[in-house]
Amino acid sequence: MFYLRDMYSQIRRMLFMLDAEKAHYISMNLLKFACSIYPIRMLIRKAYSPDNTHLNTKLFGLTFKNPVGLAAGFDKNASYLRELECLGFGHVEIGTVTPIPQAGNEKPRLFRLPADKALINRMGFNNDGVQAIKRRLKEWKEKNKDIPSGERIIIGGNIGKNKITPNEDAWKDYEICFNELFDVVDYFVVNVSSPNTPGLRALQDKDSLLKIFSVLKANNDKHPHPKPILLKIAPDLELEQLQDIASLCNEIKLDGIVSSNTTISRENLSHVSTQKSHQIGAGGLSGAPLKEKADQVLNTLIEMTGNNIPFIASGGIFTSDDANRKINMGADLVQVWTGFIYEGPGIVKNICKNIIVK
Ligand SMILES: Cc1cc2nc3c(=O)[nH]c(=O)nc-3n(C[C@H](O)[C@H](O)[C@H](O)COP(=O)(O)O)c2cc1C
Repeated sequence: MFYLRDMYSQIRRMLFMLDAEKAHYISMNLLKFACSIYPIRMLIRKAYSPDNTHLNTKLFGLTFKNPVGLAAGFDKNASYLRELECLGFGHVEIGTVTPIPQAGNEKPRLFRLPADKALINRMGFNNDGVQAIKRRLKEWKEKNKDIPSGERIIIGGNIGKNKITPNEDAWKDYEICFNELFDVVDYFVVNVSSPNTPGLRALQDKDSLLKIFSVLKANNDKHPHPKPILLKIAPDLELEQLQDIASLCNEIKLDGIVSSNTTISRENLSHVSTQKSHQIGAGGLSGAPLKEKADQVLNTLIEMTGNNIPFIASGGIFTSDDANRKINMGADLVQVWTGFIYEGPGIVKNICKNIIVK
């Protein structure tokens, strides 16, 4: 078991020789193959799953088996849920999902900055589209229907707009994704904060958010059991914009905030990575250099909202210290993405060893 957990440093060396996006698909498909063999799946689950008994976290009326989730953009198409469940994640946020399938930006579009434990991406919402993803989630839900709450992995649906949809019609894309995924996800996240879809972040202004959320709420209220709808924000917002979002929380009763997405800033990079980032060009920066900025935005928004609404913290989480810092600020759950690439499949178990459970 120890051997399994320790193997990642060797595997990572090989994976880091490949193009970053290729390495992502190769490693996840290898894991998928390994998990298709029952005894191996059990072995992986035993090696990487934290002991959940004391880690259950109740939020939005849901029971998360532990507070550590996988951030959006890793399993965009809901293709690896069983594998991610074996690695111990308490929740997985699938997506960003758009109404129509789209290829995303030209490759290469994902880059590593190992000297800084960082990534830069300009994926551009590549995804299979809401219908295909809904089918996959329906199958998953059917297979897992007998797993009791608190043991089952929670699925978040991160929704967005297609690149070709003009901003004034963006609310229609969010509405389509919301209605299509309603029965197959546990909570929703409205993503208006990705730097890689032109103009998307302009939807973080108050009027656009009011429009999107009022439409989604009207749809949500038609159901006997409405689903939590959260907002995912960028870490690059000015104080005034954060103030707008905080006041919006009261006006439209947001169910929670995911703070934060990747940054367009290139602060906190070492000399090596700064040079490399110039060659790479545009994209969102994630991982260790985002840590400080993500902490600041989280802290500011929690203070502005009077710690009255739930927060999911994302940005630069690698260790239980990182997770606990965010939880001590007031976050209820944490999510990893870049940390998973650098720390490997043991990240959930490692964070959970010393995590504060609310
Ligand atoms: C390659 C890549 C793709 C991403 N795609 C999405 C996405 O589709 N939707 C989204 O809301 N966030 C997306 N993110 C942002 C992550 O969900 C996360 O918020 C961000 O990377 C900060 O966390 P980290 O420092 O742990 O990586 C993506 C991040 C990366 C690295």
